[in-house]
Amino acid sequence: MSKTSGVRNVWVFGYGSLIWRPGIAYQERRVARVRGWTRRFWQGSHDHRGLPHAPGRVVTLVPETGATCEGVAYRVGKALAKATFEGLDHREKNGYRRHSVQLEFRLGGTSAGIVYIAPVDNHAFLGPAPVDEMIAQISRAAGPSGTNLDYLRQLESALRRLEIDDPHVFELARRLRQSRSQAAVR
Ligand code: SIN
Repeated sequence: MSKTSGVRNVWVFGYGSLIWRPGIAYQERRVARVRGWTRRFWQGSHDHRGLPHAPGRVVTLVPETGATCEGVAYRVGKALAKATFEGLDHREKNGYRRHSVQLEFRLGGTSAGIVYIAPVDNHAFLGPAPVDEMIAQISRAAGPSGTNLDYLRQLESALRRLEIDDPHVFELARRLRQSRSQAAVR
């Protein structure tokens, strides 16, 4: 919780689709980071970017000593906090749970915040895989929210726009472009 003008607010931290498609009513948006976590395409998606029998791959946060993950924090007013979390709980229902974290804003300052993380013991967790396998899965998966390819592209471009470096995401996006351009000339 943070205090602004005497009103108590809650900050929600997004590191995946919440960056480019927040879908929540917020009062302020800031680039922020969390320490001790790294973004990985290790979570299965059965309900957004894949289907139960053909899951896609989306991001979660994985604990890593010394790592930081940059994303976007949204300040939600007290009056809308309950409805916001009900909506996000539904959206992130496929294995994600709320965690309390300390946010560090890029332009200075800190605050407590809430982030949705899909932990290793959730039913949809996929974990690491060789890059080629991840690319193949992302290339073919699609679900009610669109293609898995679109998710990766949107995430890559949102991170670049915000000048957030993420070698894992950028490497997957680069390898995906490479494999598609190779497929196009065959
Ligand atoms: C998030 O964006 O913070 C959670 C993961 C996702 O929905 O992509």
